[in-house]
Amino acid sequence: MRIDVITCLPELFKGPFDQSILHRAQDKGIVELKVHDLRPYATNKHKTVDDYAYGGGAGMVLQIEPIDRCISDLKKDNDYDEVIYTSPDGVQFDQSIANQLSLLNNIIIICGHYKGVDERVREHLVTKEISIGDYVLSGGELAAAVISDAIIRLIPGVLNDESSALSDSFQDNLIAPPVYTRPAEYNGWKVPDVLLSGHEANIEQWRHEQSIERTKSRRPNLLDGTTE
Ligand code: ADE
Repeated sequence: MRIDVITCLPELFKGPFDQSILHRAQDKGIVELKVHDLRPYATNKHKTVDDYAYGGGAGMVLQIEPIDRCISDLKKDNDYDEVIYTSPDGVQFDQSIANQLSLLNNIIIICGHYKGVDERVREHLVTKEISIGDYVLSGGELAAAVISDAIIRLIPGVLNDESSALSDSFQDNLIAPPVYTRPAEYNGWKVPDVLLSGHEANIEQWRHEQSIERTKSRRPNLLDGTTE
């Protein structure tokens, strides 16, 4: 899979994309993550990529021209399945969207910034708008990093133990059961006996029951299929 991120703050991706699982996924050649600075695509001499909103109002708006030029450049070399725009008014990101996106070959993620992006970008260049939650971030970069992380860890071969992505919370609409590690007792606080029993079937059943109990108490909406 290849993910091309378009942003005016490329430095923001240095931490998230260069560490841990995302770093390993690139090292293994399973995923290509490319971050494109929008500024070189500006046509004016000051290399600005935003301007005041027509009709007035506070905040700068990202211009269509540099974004279109950047996307056109990328499309010369690759076909893209989706051009995603990160925005608080997009469709709410969840595990099922992450699963769907993880099956694609190439995607572009455009990070919104400042007051937003010229509406014509959304109308003519974008195929999917995604929000990571009902709150407003300073820009779409952190959202793009969250979306990329959630997608990439699902691609076969990225995690060492592939079954662990399938047993994540939200797969099967259930929250993951609790986990414990050594020591078996700390400060008098004990690990449940069943986990130390070595009895696989009982352990599996206990985990399933815990998942259902947790989902009922913490996220009952997952059981009835509603969003909240
Ligand atoms: N940009 C600003 N806020 C955002 C959000 N909640 N989700 C996605 N992109 C955003």
